Amino acid sequence: MRRLNVGMIGGGFMGKAHSLAYAAMPMFFWPAPAIPVRHTLADVTDELATEAAARLGFSQGVGDWRRVVDDPEIDIIDIVTPNNSHAEIAIAAAAAGKHIICEKPLARSAAEAKTMLDAVQATGVTHMVAFNYRHTPAVALARKLIEGGSIGAIRNFRGTYLQDWSADPASPLSWRFQKKVAGSGALGDIATHVVDMARYLVDEIASVNAVTRTYISARPVQNSGFDKLGAAARLTGVPMAPVDVDDEVITLLQFRNGAIGSLEASRNAYGRNNYLTFEIHGELGSIVFNYEQRDQLQVMLADDPADCRGFRTIYTGPAHPHGEGLWPIPALGIGYGETKIIECSLFVSAIVEGRQPSPNFRDGYLNGLVADAILESAETRGWRDVVEV
Ligand SMILES: NC(=O)c1ccc[n+]([C@@H]2O[C@H](COP(=O)([O-])OP(=O)(O)OC[C@H]3O[C@@H](n4cnc5c(N)ncnc54)[C@H](O)[C@@H]3O)[C@@H](O)[C@H]2O)c1
Repeated sequence: MRRLNVGMIGGGFMGKAHSLAYAAMPMFFWPAPAIPVRHTLADVTDELATEAAARLGFSQGVGDWRRVVDDPEIDIIDIVTPNNSHAEIAIAAAAAGKHIICEKPLARSAAEAKTMLDAVQATGVTHMVAFNYRHTPAVALARKLIEGGSIGAIRNFRGTYLQDWSADPASPLSWRFQKKVAGSGALGDIATHVVDMARYLVDEIASVNAVTRTYISARPVQNSGFDKLGAAARLTGVPMAPVDVDDEVITLLQFRNGAIGSLEASRNAYGRNNYLTFEIHGELGSIVFNYEQRDQLQVMLADDPADCRGFRTIYTGPAHPHGEGLWPIPALGIGYGETKIIECSLFVSAIVEGRQPSPNFRDGYLNGLVADAILESAETRGWRDVVEV
């Protein structure tokens, strides 16, 4: 069976998630399209890279990502670093002829994402952007139902992504609160997942009208390799530095197909953990999803008999999208790891078949255009059209 050597850049949270997927993918999706081999991991120092390589099952760790990109044995470059390094690594990897999977947001701005899209299109490598939530079987089922006409033409999309890990002002100023590294705050970090879902399920977004807020204007400085994510890592007695990104974003949406909607995201919503939700109303029914119950899809069909009308709960399993590779019985549990395993299977299949998977860098760029329009709308206090740069 074909083997594909993976060079991973970054050994933090997503390094862990992607490594799990490389190891587990052939166990779930067999026969595997190819076997991903955890070859080399790069981090910012030899020490961090060697530790992460041992922890995540890579044969070796190196302190400079260029050595991985230049290695002729490497087939795949997996970019799981903070957002400011995605473009430089991806452009170098494309020039070296490597297939690339890059974490979201693809870049700090749509213009930066466009340079990455141009680079992969120029060399013809396979490229994927890691908006993994759309691979949750219940979300893919929602798409299947919508495409099949079950709820008719869509009228309304209402999406949220609410977390609370940064609600405590003593939670650290990691890279996720610095514009020069992250590009934006809750917008790029989590709202873009909802943008991706909205584009996947409804249509392209034509225009937005947004408000953003930064409630916590300074945070204690974190000095460490990877983000400790939140209140569990409260810092006291250390220097403070300013936050220059949004804590919260709310926007109205108008879709090209005439549907309207809204989106809100915050990492400061006490009591919400990974509250990634959508509610979609169509002319023949409604669909509701909440990632905190990610095995389930709520579906209401308007032509049900009057005395049976209401939401039914569908537990996803083998009968549903991607289900053939997962667990044999619905409701055994589908977790975050499974979305990454599905993502890995789709990426490796696309490489083997010489085509582009979905979502790819073009989706990363289009999601970036919407994010840029949201920021511009908030700054100018009015509607902004989403236009290609
Ligand atoms: N798809 C998702 O659900 C999801 C979830 C979390 C994060 N992300 C994205 O994944 C990316 C990484 O986030 P994370 O949570 O893993 O961050 P993290 O802070 O946990 O880890 C980042 C790692 O990259 C390393 N690094 C930084 N600069 C580097 C460089 N130039 N070369 C090599 N290594 C470098 C750091 O030392 C650290 O080990 C971000 O783009 C983020 O937005 C996606």
